Amino acid sequence: MSVNFKGRHFLKLLDFTPEEIRYLLDSAKEFKRMKHNRILHKYLEGMNIVLIFEKTSTRTRCAFDVAGHDLGMGVTYLDPGSSQMGKKESIADTARVLSRMFDGIEYRGFGQEIVDTLAEYASVPVWNGLTDQFHPTQMLADLLTIEEKFGHLQGVKVTYMGDARNNTGNSLMVACAKMGLHFTACSPKELFPAPELVETAKAIAAESGGSITLTDNVEEGTKGAEVIYTDIWVSMGEPDEVWAERIRLLKPYQVNAAVMANAAPNAVFSHCLPSFHDTNTTISAEIAKKFGITEMEVTNEVFESKQSVVFDEAENRMHTIKAVLYATLG
Ligand code: CP
Ligand code: NVA
Repeated sequence: MSVNFKGRHFLKLLDFTPEEIRYLLDSAKEFKRMKHNRILHKYLEGMNIVLIFEKTSTRTRCAFDVAGHDLGMGVTYLDPGSSQMGKKESIADTARVLSRMFDGIEYRGFGQEIVDTLAEYASVPVWNGLTDQFHPTQMLADLLTIEEKFGHLQGVKVTYMGDARNNTGNSLMVACAKMGLHFTACSPKELFPAPELVETAKAIAAESGGSITLTDNVEEGTKGAEVIYTDIWVSMGEPDEVWAERIRLLKPYQVNAAVMANAAPNAVFSHCLPSFHDTNTTISAEIAKKFGITEMEVTNEVFESKQSVVFDEAENRMHTIKAVLYATLG
């Protein structure tokens, strides 16, 4: 297969062909095999990468960190408060400075235009570790997990419940379109993905044999689905004031036993995490006190069930991010 990633940015899946995404998934499988067999793969020894996080993270940060170390690289982490970027130094200047010291730059933060600007001015690859609009590295892990469970991607029926216009919803729609899966956004109309992105995804799906459906009907939207996917109802960066309205809108779209019973018998439950499935976090405890709900986007029963693949997905973040690092730097 003729794919050439070297020196390229990884900003959103829309920029990549199905063949290129396939290459990254296959590469991730190979890295996973090596990791599980403790076969060292320090292919990028002597290189250094920097991770900029303007929003918090557990999985993405640790995945980049461990992947970088496994590949033999030095890894520098810049937390939300500790760089000059945006406050005392422009994005363009930061990109040019970091390019003189590092071989690649990861960015997690707010608008997609920030990571796009970093990429425009950087002379090394820039990887999107989540913006308000897209979360492309998450999608590689999700596709890999689906393929591990079903043995293939083509034709798998995926239903996303919740805020379908957030970074995860947008990205999952594009990922499914690219790889020929049947994607349904099952959410209130107010939270459907933007019409332009839906049209783009539909055009891509027409080529790949997949499909894109939007519905606000839970019964129809989840019937026979093989993957039920959800995400938190309020994303990082959104103001606290949106909680009341979001809970009102999304309560009927909670993933619970009835939803899983309506899905395919072999359906899996998928979530990018973190998740509010109990009151064991500061935020979910506060929400429980304020709004009287103890489980949000998914019930604890489903989260903890045998159908749940959430921790496989979390592990796959690392193998897939490693594939991206190696493909773009190797
Ligand atoms: N799924 C995900 O991106 O998790 P983190 O926010 O912990 O990185
Ligand atoms: N939509 C979530 C995803 C977290 C991985 C957020 O942006 O907070």
